[in-house]
Amino acid sequence: MKILIVGNGGREHALLWKLRRDAPEAELFITRGNGGTAELATPIPIDPGEIQALAGWAEHQGVDLTIVGPEGPLDAGIGDHFSARRLPVFGPTRTAARIESSKAFAKGLMERNGIPTAAYRAFRELPEAERYIRDANHALVVKASGLAAGKGAVVCDAKEEALVAAREMLSGDAFGGAGREIVVEERMEGEELSVFALTDGEHSLILPPLQDHKRIGEGETGPNTGGMGAYAPVSLATPELMERVERDIVSPTLAALREENSRFRGLLYAGLMLTESGPRVVEFNCRFGDPETQALLPLLDGSLLEPIRTVAAGGSLQGASVAIRPGAAVTTVLASEGYPGSYPKGREIEIPGDLADDPELFLFHAGTALREGRLVTSGGRVLAVTALGRDVRTAAERSRAAAERITFEGRQLRRDIGWREVERGEGRGTVDE
Ligand code: AMP
Ligand code: GLY
Repeated sequence: MKILIVGNGGREHALLWKLRRDAPEAELFITRGNGGTAELATPIPIDPGEIQALAGWAEHQGVDLTIVGPEGPLDAGIGDHFSARRLPVFGPTRTAARIESSKAFAKGLMERNGIPTAAYRAFRELPEAERYIRDANHALVVKASGLAAGKGAVVCDAKEEALVAAREMLSGDAFGGAGREIVVEERMEGEELSVFALTDGEHSLILPPLQDHKRIGEGETGPNTGGMGAYAPVSLATPELMERVERDIVSPTLAALREENSRFRGLLYAGLMLTESGPRVVEFNCRFGDPETQALLPLLDGSLLEPIRTVAAGGSLQGASVAIRPGAAVTTVLASEGYPGSYPKGREIEIPGDLADDPELFLFHAGTALREGRLVTSGGRVLAVTALGRDVRTAAERSRAAAERITFEGRQLRRDIGWREVERGEGRGTVDE
């Protein structure tokens, strides 16, 4: 079996690692690859965004399955293009991917279908946005409607901040075309939860939920990033809560997408806020989360490939399940100096050799590259260090200790991944599904 992974970050490295376990005999390929993927997959010299070239290559090679990591190619129509050429692909069509690529679309869909989320308005013109912000009697979040690599939301403490954000986005200064339309919404309070539903568009296999750490700084300070760490299990996500999430959020969202001729096959990621009045949607994504995937996949005992193949082949996931191992996983991200702003590249990375000997430790490469035999930084998020343990506290200590031993100039990391769970004192958590 030949499998192509589109993308080349930490999420894709983790997917390759899991596919190698699920299908030891498979031939794996990745677009470009990074400094850590060479032992798992053959790199191909085509960018994730070059859809025509990828489809041509996949046809020529007789690729049996293509799994799309990032949202960019999905928004550009890779799902449609591959399907039209009868190439099995895991990833939604372009219209279904709007659930992520247009926050205005996602909010409208939720509003029309009574799916719990923050009150909002969408704007293309500054004067109207300014009026709404001035008149609002609650705290606000201002978001670019389009894709902005997880950095397009400004959580505002004051109206002035919201006005500045709206001006910068609508003028095109902040996020270019992605900010031409903005969503201004009510600021919600509560803990966040990332829920992954692997879905055929109707039935879904809900994977163990995780908590991401979006802010760059410890104690949830500083600007938002793509994610600086993640952990599971989250003890707040009780079986009752997850039933409610499936009934009130995942199922009605999938039904609404079907009704609007945008059936969603792939991985629906629901980013939730657990508010006092129950779970509410912060955002949807049309793909696996990063770095959540790097924490989640080592916790899966059962095959991930099987349900992915079923969905890509147009089959049904009714009754599907995946075995989960007991214990916890914590991922610490190492990022470049300056991230989430601009950052240097080419800094040499030192990884102690013994880290590779620990069977409960996984190093997933993101922004790394090999230059003349040396491993160097090549992106904002550089490495994800996942550790397993009997509980979140133990896994967090291991992940942090290993991450601290990996060095490069200007390295940033958070040493408090999983802190909420540890504070709850319930880090014993086993995931029983
Ligand atoms: P988004 O780009 O929609 O994923 O938002 C990025 C992050 O901003 C989320 O993970 C939250 O931490 C925060 N955020 C977004 N919307 C809200 C909201 N309505 N209330 C509070 N925080 C939010
Ligand atoms: N970790 C957040 C995301 O993947 O969007």
